[in-house]
Amino acid sequence: MTETTTHPAGPAEETALNIRPILHYTAKNTWLNDPNGLIYSNGIYHLYYQNNPYGNVWGNMAWGHATSTDLTTWTEHPVAIPGDEEEDIFSGSIVIDHLNTSGFGTEDRTPWVAVYTSAFKDPSPHRGTQAQSLAYSLDEGMTWSKFTGNPVLSRGSLNFRDPKVFWYEGPAGSYWVMVAVEAQEQKVLLYRSENLKDWDQLSEFGPANATGGEWECPDLFPLPLDNDPLLMKWVLTVNINPGAVAGGSGGQYFIGNFDGTSFIQDEHDDSPPVSSEAEPTDTAQQLRKYNWLDWGRDYYAAVSFSNVPDNRRIMIGWMNNWDYANDTPTSPWRSAMSVARDVTLRTIGGRPAVIQQPAFRLPDHGVHVYEISDQVELNGTPVTFPGSADGTALIVRAEFQTGTASRLGLILGSPSAANADSRTDIVYDTGTSELAVDRTKSGHTTFHPLFPSVESCPLALYGKDLTLEIIIDRCSLEVFAQNGQVAITDLIFPARGQQFISAFAEGGDATLKKLTITEVG
Ligand code: FRU
Repeated sequence: MTETTTHPAGPAEETALNIRPILHYTAKNTWLNDPNGLIYSNGIYHLYYQNNPYGNVWGNMAWGHATSTDLTTWTEHPVAIPGDEEEDIFSGSIVIDHLNTSGFGTEDRTPWVAVYTSAFKDPSPHRGTQAQSLAYSLDEGMTWSKFTGNPVLSRGSLNFRDPKVFWYEGPAGSYWVMVAVEAQEQKVLLYRSENLKDWDQLSEFGPANATGGEWECPDLFPLPLDNDPLLMKWVLTVNINPGAVAGGSGGQYFIGNFDGTSFIQDEHDDSPPVSSEAEPTDTAQQLRKYNWLDWGRDYYAAVSFSNVPDNRRIMIGWMNNWDYANDTPTSPWRSAMSVARDVTLRTIGGRPAVIQQPAFRLPDHGVHVYEISDQVELNGTPVTFPGSADGTALIVRAEFQTGTASRLGLILGSPSAANADSRTDIVYDTGTSELAVDRTKSGHTTFHPLFPSVESCPLALYGKDLTLEIIIDRCSLEVFAQNGQVAITDLIFPARGQQFISAFAEGGDATLKKLTITEVG
């Protein structure tokens, strides 16, 4: 991968909008992409990330660093691992080496070890290759030293990257496991080590399911199905770019078992139930049969935190898409992380599915809650509720009874024809059983031809009501439906600060049973 071929820099900004999100992390003045080295320790969540310390387009890759205690309010720290004339620092993960297997520790200090991809540049003897390297910290992640024996794992490959490392303990023994990708071969490679320095290959997985682009940023973790510790499953997440279900970048997942050597995908995991009975006729339809972490355009490179207590599995994704990431109209910063998401496994329609719910804690101050006192009957004309003042974020929780309506949902912005240039529609279609987000009229959309879009996902309600939770944070929305059964994340760049929420039903009636709008300023 090079800057010019894979992640081209955008043209000079036409409209630089002052729309820095409130609930999402952005770097103060610079560019970010993938979350890296997500780790929790002593009450603090550490978010490292792909960062260009010198600009707001992709390039000069280093690991930026931010910390938070509530997953909402973040403090930016100096660059943690800088690149140099020989290497760019690509994505990877961090482990706390409690047993000092690496030998980087001292008598009274436990080493934190970052395993990252060195993308070697021309002056390096390894030029052109991508290989796995180590850096360590003896002050709980604040400052880092590169290991002098880098790289520790090379295949002489040009596209071997994004190591996620965890401590495996099971019937097969206790050791470090690394999952990484051979990106252009659509393969996840698994390695094992006793000391984080010497690695032996265990197995490989793939190509499988979506293969229309490079596989990047894998993760592998166990989760109990339906909260039952006796029903442990393993989830393998694999990001793909391009070739995701909504176009461009996205994250797919596989459910199966990991025996300490290989990941074995469950039978039928490649074909979860879809709403339509029709056989797939093209790739787009085939893609809709796979498991996706998110069905929107802007949730990529998602990985999970290590070391979170109570077996919680929390993921963060980069809220952007390589299709247009370098062109999004913000300044001086560019790109935000998604909100942190609690990830669990639940049986839906007879199959295990990843469930995602916002994991952050709301700030103690500046929160205003509006709630409807009576249910609202919907038929025809949209009903409008208070929105957000300029500079606030909204968390909207809505519960509908779908009734006889053919389409129902929420409109963000103004539903009136006069302001039709700036609205985003979140629509459930009862005929096709699909949930969609339409951002074609969401405001500033012309900065890139691939930006205006409609995203949809199959969503069977199983006779139940439709429940939506939507986080609207100035320039993005994350829709979680049916308590996290599906997610759709999309960037939007509304023309005005004011955002109204309207509910509507068409082709019959529906009832808005509950509506809570939480405004965070
Ligand atoms: C994913 C990715 C990774 C790589 C990093 C470089 O967005 O392409 O595969 O490590 O970004 O910034």
